[in-house]
Amino acid sequence: MGISSMWCVMVLSLIALAPICLSHKIDDNEGNLYPQFYDHSCPRAQEIVKSVVERAVAKEARMAASLLRLHFHDCFVKGCDASLLLDSSGSITSEKRSNPNRKSARGFEVIDDIKKALEHECPKTVSCADILALAARDSTVLAGGPNWEVPLGRRDSRDASLSGSNNNIPAPNNTFQTILTKFKVVGLDLVDMVALSGSHTIGDARCTSFRQRLYGQNGNGRIDTTLDQSYAAELRTRCPRSGGDQNLFIMDIITPRKFDNNYYKNIVASKGLLNSDQVMWTKNEASKKLVEQYAEDMGLFFDHFAKSMVKMGNISPLTGSRGEIRRVCRRVNHF
Ligand code: HEM
Repeated sequence: MGISSMWCVMVLSLIALAPICLSHKIDDNEGNLYPQFYDHSCPRAQEIVKSVVERAVAKEARMAASLLRLHFHDCFVKGCDASLLLDSSGSITSEKRSNPNRKSARGFEVIDDIKKALEHECPKTVSCADILALAARDSTVLAGGPNWEVPLGRRDSRDASLSGSNNNIPAPNNTFQTILTKFKVVGLDLVDMVALSGSHTIGDARCTSFRQRLYGQNGNGRIDTTLDQSYAAELRTRCPRSGGDQNLFIMDIITPRKFDNNYYKNIVASKGLLNSDQVMWTKNEASKKLVEQYAEDMGLFFDHFAKSMVKMGNISPLTGSRGEIRRVCRRVNHF
């Protein structure tokens, strides 16, 4: 029996209301995630996730970024419930088809490999949503970023939301205010927004994600004035006015695969690649101050980043008897 339910029985029996308590479902730590969740049911779970992530990142350094992003794109849509991982089938339309994910979200095969290894070790025990949270942490650490304990116990959804994926995940051309609102809707604040955007210290973006900054909103040729003009000229050589949509560009031009605070130093130098990166410095005093603080103090960035990742990982998890533990992350279980 979990601590909270024990407390519930004691207090209620003291005031002779035990029958009322018993009429409620008593569920161990219902609603709460905690790092020791698999300590008894799958003691090697974290070790297994880490070893598969290590292998994948050794093979391709960018994979750390791709896995980190999957957790974000999962959590912002119906909470951290692995809805992102479902392929289309039956009544499910996959979130992989949404604007933010199509031709962009990647790393699904690595999640498959992790799940396979975990099903072998302890069948139907470790959720795909928890795998995403652990893989995001392990990826951050492998890239040189901060470490944190990952609260666990999420369960997997039995459906997906394409519209949620299109609407809830911030877009690179959203205004500062729209982006902040999208964070606030899921219970995150301005500090979380600025700190978590620091993920862009690793990983790539496609030409199509920032082209408008190079040629003006309506192709009028004007370069975004908040973008360093020589950097913009360089970007134009591989990101033409039309074509080359999928061409890839590193987001941190100083240390593209290292998780550090150079992302913020770039922004202060007007070299944030995405408009959504740069607006944190140009459109709001509070976020500008944070960008400057993180550019100066990597320890502060790491501290805030780790805390904000735990917060993001706590967005509306399915716990207790809600959802299920998928056997294969790409599809719901059949009974
Ligand atoms: C603040 C709002 C955000 C916006 C508008 C945004 C937008 C984007 C865009 C447009 C890309 C490039 C996609 C492409 O062109 O294929 C990208 C990449 C990435 N994003 Fe974000 N993002 C945001 C916040 C976040 C957060 C909160 C995280 C993680 C906690 C994150 C992690 C990443 C990573 C790691 C990549 C690189 C992925 C790879 O190389 O495969 N982003 N983001």
